[in-house]
Amino acid sequence: MCGIIGYIGNREAKPILLRGLESVLYRGYDSAGLSIRDEKNKTTHYYRSPGKLENLKKKLDPLSIGGTVGIAHTRWATHGIPSEENAHPHRDCHGKIHVVHNGVIENHAELKKQLIAEGHRFFGQTDTEIIPHLLEEEKKQNPTMNTRECLRRILSKMEGAFAIVVMDADGPDSLFLARKESPLLFSYNNEQNEFLISSDPGTFYLYPDIAQKVVAMPPETLVALGGGKIEITDFESKPQSPISVPMNETEEFAQKQGFPHFMAKEIFEQPKALRDTLSGRMISDIAGVKLGGLEQQKESILSKEKIFLIGCGTSFHASLVGKFLFEEFADMEAHAEIASLFRYRKLPLHPKRDLALFISQSGETADTLGCVTELKNKNILCLGLINRVGSTIARECGVGIYQRIGPEIGVASTKAFTAQIANLALLTLFFGQSKNMSLSDRTLFINTLNSLPDIIEKTINILDPQIKKLAEDYSKFTNFLFLGRKYNYPTAMEGALKLKEISYIHAEAYESGEMKHGPLAMITDQFPTFFLCPNDSVYAKNISNMQEIKARSGPVVAIATVGDTQVDTIADQVLYLPPIYEPLSPILYSIPLQLFAYYMAVLKGYNPDLPRNLAKSVTVQ
Ligand code: F6R
Repeated sequence: MCGIIGYIGNREAKPILLRGLESVLYRGYDSAGLSIRDEKNKTTHYYRSPGKLENLKKKLDPLSIGGTVGIAHTRWATHGIPSEENAHPHRDCHGKIHVVHNGVIENHAELKKQLIAEGHRFFGQTDTEIIPHLLEEEKKQNPTMNTRECLRRILSKMEGAFAIVVMDADGPDSLFLARKESPLLFSYNNEQNEFLISSDPGTFYLYPDIAQKVVAMPPETLVALGGGKIEITDFESKPQSPISVPMNETEEFAQKQGFPHFMAKEIFEQPKALRDTLSGRMISDIAGVKLGGLEQQKESILSKEKIFLIGCGTSFHASLVGKFLFEEFADMEAHAEIASLFRYRKLPLHPKRDLALFISQSGETADTLGCVTELKNKNILCLGLINRVGSTIARECGVGIYQRIGPEIGVASTKAFTAQIANLALLTLFFGQSKNMSLSDRTLFINTLNSLPDIIEKTINILDPQIKKLAEDYSKFTNFLFLGRKYNYPTAMEGALKLKEISYIHAEAYESGEMKHGPLAMITDQFPTFFLCPNDSVYAKNISNMQEIKARSGPVVAIATVGDTQVDTIADQVLYLPPIYEPLSPILYSIPLQLFAYYMAVLKGYNPDLPRNLAKSVTVQ
């Protein structure tokens, strides 16, 4: 979590750092800070503020801050409350060494105790604060050693995951970067007289002139930037090669384009996202697919019999849809797994038989990444279904498909979810076409995928005012249930997650058949239910479950198929969607739920793009 920005060059650092922070804000936004070295006046400017980035900007706006080297940070609290004392950068006792950090130093308590015994003073509770003091102590013990060498020596003392950037008044033209697990990238122009550092590839689109080359630091490396030079070594000082990152997204995606929030923009751009993700991948003549990212290892991939689909949160919900698709159409044993749980289970795994597919929008989620490392060590073939090009999980998997839907900025995932399901459908076809998926099923998949963008485009504009009104009608309720069966059980889970994460309303999802096994006890006239009830293979069962809720006076909002005449006689409100092929229906049925959560959050006066306590990219375990 948290976002890091750094700059060295000949321009004023302040505006570059602040703009850079905006691009990593989704990684955490409960406090922010920056340090800028002004070599002309031999001083380091240092500012931190709790709360939104706006608070830091308000502090800095009236100030003229010289200096062309700086580091900045936006925090998502792990150790210590979001306060000024805990905001980054952190400094040593003399205010010379400034450090920003992402990740967690697991043995910080022990190191802090030693440092306090050695006379170091601490002001906050964060694990990060030990880093400048460790470096200060190392420099004190080894006065002839340079900052870089001292930094190298302290890295081996810190356990856990980290990406850090160090600015030292003793080495004023340089910044020192170190990375173990947590991602860190930097870019430069051809003359190498300007460097931009970020924890997120998205930042580099803001400054194409400093991003002629973008480099991701390999794990366990140390980089010294400055004086027109780049030195990359491992923690043992052996030179390392940089990993180039392709920049193929455009800045256009990072704008709200007239929408009040990124979340609204991302919900409404789903037709385009689906077109982009599907483009050039389906071959209608053979009712199949060609997935470039899998071609090289096609034979090995297709030889597997069992697949683990692994992700977190929304990506886990997509993996559940994927599980059903693989089981029904690709003739494969499929397991949808929550990454943070999967990592710690002891499962019999067989490299010859098993395959893992990692689903992640950001490609940086620590729990998911942890599973990649674990499974790679066990020689399991790992594929990625990732949105962020060049992200850590994409690089670690090496094989897979990109979503190609542009950055998702709103913290609540929307377009990534529907595109993940579309890609899982493509992957089902990939396996199905070489196994025994029938031509008619394959054709239905292809035709439905092809028609979905247009269907959504038409539907979303009809639904939008209806759902806005629905949110107003239901805004007084404090609990919601989301029910769905088979393919739309994951849709219900996703609907409940959307509502709770951005509107802070309690919401739970159940497979509709499970209601009678306990949850039905909660139903009163104050506990509404969203019921996903398309005209599909489980329709009759859903109708019975809906009646059971109505018999207990529970208000029901049903989402059903246009032309349905039965649902209307049971539910209090019905939203109608066009008929859709059942296995791919979650793509369409999740959209009204995204809109409902969005309007609820807006009605309650919350910013849906930056929900409290959360961050877009979850890089802690
Ligand atoms: C919810 C949401 C999260 C993410 C989860 C995994 O709206 O966005 O639940 O889905 O943190 O993130 P990725 O897909 O980046 O691995």
